[in-house]
Amino acid sequence: MNRLVPSMFSNLCARLALAFVALFLVLGVAFLVLTNWSNNRYYQEVTQNLNQSLAMYIVQRAPLIQRGIVNKTAMTELATLVMTVNPIVEVYLLDPSGKVLTHTLPPDTPIRPEISIQPLQHWLNKTQPFPILGDNPRANQGERVFSVWPVMDNENLAGYLYVILGGQNVQSLSDSLRGSYILKQSLSGLAVILLFAIISALLIFAVLTSPLRKLAQQMNDFQQQELNLHPSSTLEPVAGTRDEIVYLSSAFAAMRTRIREQMEKLQETDRLRRELISNVSHDLRTPLSSMQGYLEMLTRPSITQEERQTYMDIAFKHCRRLTQLVKELFELSKLDAGRITPQLENFSLAELLQDVAQKYSLAAQQKNITLSTPQTNQLYMVNADIALIERVFENLIDNALRYTPENGSVELSLTHQSSSVEIAIQDTGIGLEDEDIPHIFERYYCAQKPTEYHQQSTGLGLAIVKRILELHGSVIRVESKRRQGTLFKFPLPLARTNKLQSEQAA
Ligand SMILES: Nc1ncnc2c1ncn2[C@@H]1O[C@H](COP(=O)(O)OP(=O)(O)OP(=O)(O)O)[C@@H](O)[C@H]1O
Ligand SMILES: [Mg+2]
Repeated sequence: MNRLVPSMFSNLCARLALAFVALFLVLGVAFLVLTNWSNNRYYQEVTQNLNQSLAMYIVQRAPLIQRGIVNKTAMTELATLVMTVNPIVEVYLLDPSGKVLTHTLPPDTPIRPEISIQPLQHWLNKTQPFPILGDNPRANQGERVFSVWPVMDNENLAGYLYVILGGQNVQSLSDSLRGSYILKQSLSGLAVILLFAIISALLIFAVLTSPLRKLAQQMNDFQQQELNLHPSSTLEPVAGTRDEIVYLSSAFAAMRTRIREQMEKLQETDRLRRELISNVSHDLRTPLSSMQGYLEMLTRPSITQEERQTYMDIAFKHCRRLTQLVKELFELSKLDAGRITPQLENFSLAELLQDVAQKYSLAAQQKNITLSTPQTNQLYMVNADIALIERVFENLIDNALRYTPENGSVELSLTHQSSSVEIAIQDTGIGLEDEDIPHIFERYYCAQKPTEYHQQSTGLGLAIVKRILELHGSVIRVESKRRQGTLFKFPLPLARTNKLQSEQAA
């Protein structure tokens, strides 16, 4: 299934809409809280403003304290009058420090003995805007709006008449919602607006993110094609992600890595190409100029028949070397360019080894080298490209004979392993120094530099062997001791049917 099909909360559009809705919800709740708070404050301000003069009127009606004694009768009469008109009003008589002297509530009502005088002074001196909240003597906590007026006794301040306006606390949002029709209406309105906002946000974000989605889709298609073209590609999409931005950034990172890899590959190829051209021109120049020299000598009329024969032999030798060099270079360049794909087939390694050894028996005889092949009736069937493996044997046997002095021996052997046949070529030749071993598979590398061996060397044989075996998924190993001999070993996969049989037997 297409991995970019939008799914709830996973693609960019849905995430944006979700964030938008969450923001809207927070704003909506904040708006409701603020509305409730300002409603409460407004109610308190209006109440306090409207009843501003209430305490003053009561005080002016009758003297409430005379010669330090509270006139309870006058107080009760006035308070009853006021509470008849407005039952939610409570009237208290305080001394100048805020102690409650008397009140008009039922006698068993619990009353706070003293209240803070500070809000009363703010009220009287008008040092704070309305609403000013004062202590509610009836409850231990809680504040109310009030009206206050000083009570005088012979020109002296004898106390305050303190009138609590409105009998209820500031309401919480949930209480207000339960009690207020207007707030309930606002909440329903908010819900409708929220729904509208969600739908429009989804639509707007879908339109806005559609180019991004298309780009991500194109990137996805491109990656799929790329992966089909190069199964070993490192261009991996992020599994399971549907957020276009995450997807694009990971795809971009993968592409950047791939481009960098390809750039490095290109640079390496370019370097190898330049190196190859300079090596090839150097290698071709030596035999060519030498050949040219001997051919010039041949044109001289004064040379003897014997000299003519020698010059011709040398010219032929250079010509053969040149042909060999060009052939090997061509072969290696084809292998490097990936233009050779092994044609795998089942064949007998034992038979192939016999054939190749046969070709080299004369060369072995000339140096009195014993060239031994496995003496067995077994076929050692493998699955490989017979022509390429023949080339591997030729190069390895050629090396073994070339780098083994007279009277030595070269032994070819085959061993069955669980899923392969291991081939070993062991000689008793000049061997290799430890520091040469890691380099012998590099092209043009010759361990025995200016010796007689170098005359016939191009240094390409083992590079070709290594590439051919790589194409077969095999790795060649080498063990060598100076002046004791060298051993080359590599495995080849068992023939298909053999493999099946051995698996079935297991
Ligand atoms: N059996 C061996 N014993 C000792 N040295 C070896 C043996 N095989 C390879 N070498 C060393 O490894 C080097 C690289 O071998 P390679 O076959 O690539 O090139 P070459 O034999 O020099 O030339 P050619 O391309 O003609 O085969 C040789 O020059 C030689 O120094
Ligand atoms: Mg060689």
